[in-house]
Amino acid sequence: MTDIIDLSLVETDLDALADVTGKVAVLITEEGGLDPAGRRVNRLTRGALARLGESSGFSDMKTGTVKTLALPAGLTAEEVLVAKLGKAASIEDARKVGAALAKAKGKEALTLCLGSHRRAAEVVEGVLLRDYAYRAQRTGDAASVPRGAVQVMVTKPDALDSAVADLRAVASGVFLTRDLINAPANVLTTESFAEQMTALGDLGVQVEVLEEAELERLGMRLLLSVGQGSESPSKVVVMRWEGGEGAPLALVGKGVVFDTGGISLKPAGGMEDMTMDMGGAGVVAGVMHAIAARKAKANVVGLIGLVENMPSGRATRPGDVVASMKGDTVEIINTDAEGRLVLADVLWYTQDRFEPRAIVDLATLTGAIIVALGHENAGVFSNDDAFVDTFLSAARAEGEGAWRMPLGPGYAKLLDSRVADVANVGGRWGGSVTAAEFLHRFIKDETPWIHLDIAGTASTKSETAFAPKGATGWGVRSLDRLIRDMLET
Ligand code: BES
Ligand code: MN
Ligand code: ZN
Repeated sequence: MTDIIDLSLVETDLDALADVTGKVAVLITEEGGLDPAGRRVNRLTRGALARLGESSGFSDMKTGTVKTLALPAGLTAEEVLVAKLGKAASIEDARKVGAALAKAKGKEALTLCLGSHRRAAEVVEGVLLRDYAYRAQRTGDAASVPRGAVQVMVTKPDALDSAVADLRAVASGVFLTRDLINAPANVLTTESFAEQMTALGDLGVQVEVLEEAELERLGMRLLLSVGQGSESPSKVVVMRWEGGEGAPLALVGKGVVFDTGGISLKPAGGMEDMTMDMGGAGVVAGVMHAIAARKAKANVVGLIGLVENMPSGRATRPGDVVASMKGDTVEIINTDAEGRLVLADVLWYTQDRFEPRAIVDLATLTGAIIVALGHENAGVFSNDDAFVDTFLSAARAEGEGAWRMPLGPGYAKLLDSRVADVANVGGRWGGSVTAAEFLHRFIKDETPWIHLDIAGTASTKSETAFAPKGATGWGVRSLDRLIRDMLET
């Protein structure tokens, strides 16, 4: 797994600033104000930072941009990085500044001067999240790009210790999710995915892997019908974190390690992107890692359905009718609408076995959600207003885009089948909503449930504020926050 950056908290040492190696970062307010470290660097550079504050371009300098003073006279450091962050900065602005500094830091070591800034923890969070690169498939020099350590100078390191420990736990969960999503499908098979989950046992997560014979015995025919064209065996991984009391929160993830579409084969253009179709399962894995690493006082179960959707002589045909674990029969009109089949059985099993207090499922479920919301927001569907409001607040606090979408019987009706209890697709319109209504059918009435369609947010072709191109880790922080807000207060 990609490690989080080596980061230490130390007490501000103004005398040391002249001699640090690598880069030095200081904050400047909108008014050009400097903290003691900034004033020290300003003196050493004979007023360079004060001149920056008075320069014509300064007021246009946006939060999240960094000015660089290269090879500054008066310091041994090779660069001084200056980021604008006011005393009253928002949490998200502070994170963005941290992320921008991590990007500007590159391979070098960084001394980050935060003094007594009230958003110091969030700046650190931004640094941790942005210092990520997926290198696992490269060789030679490209495989082991050095990553200089970060030394954070603050007035009271002890006061930040426990907050930063939690941020590290969550960032390492985010990195696990990104690594899983970025991994190609010949590397991350159902088998190797399950093995990686077993390793979460080291953190105290109880992990079970249900194999095909067991899934057959349980009646998970829908899930098995998706994987039956593949050489890789289908699996369900059950992860339990028992840190609290009472019925658990359940997280359920779609883990299609590759989605060719099956017999309803996808076109060649862009099919390689379907290596990220296990994104929902990747987020569940990342959250389990995060809460175990920070020893959350909460009961959470994470279940992922691992399958590969391939065409072959044994693959499911369009028109096949398959029975779900619940008992409902499903007419599989389109074998490319496979995620909902996997989730239906895992959702049912989750409720049957754990009687959870609430369920969140995550899936790269529909292209239609990208048409609707682009890459800025995940689609949020729910049968419970209070539960979904708690989630939406958590997502807002973490700066992860999430937008509620409707459900309703009119959409569910579109799934009527000529031959079976339900069809797996509902026609051209409202594709994300009919997909959500399909899942809704497999939720027992009283259980508060949220479905997150992350097809647009799990991975992006351009970099975001907090991640380079590729997997974002969207959802890990919102769900970690939901667990804190709902179960740990
Ligand atoms: N994995 C795809 C959805 C997807 C599309 C994820 C683009 C990420 C990016 C899903 O299994 C799928 O193929 N959905 C179909 C459903 C259709 C057949 C009803 C789709 O969205 O086209
Ligand atoms: Mn598909
Ligand atoms: Zn899919």
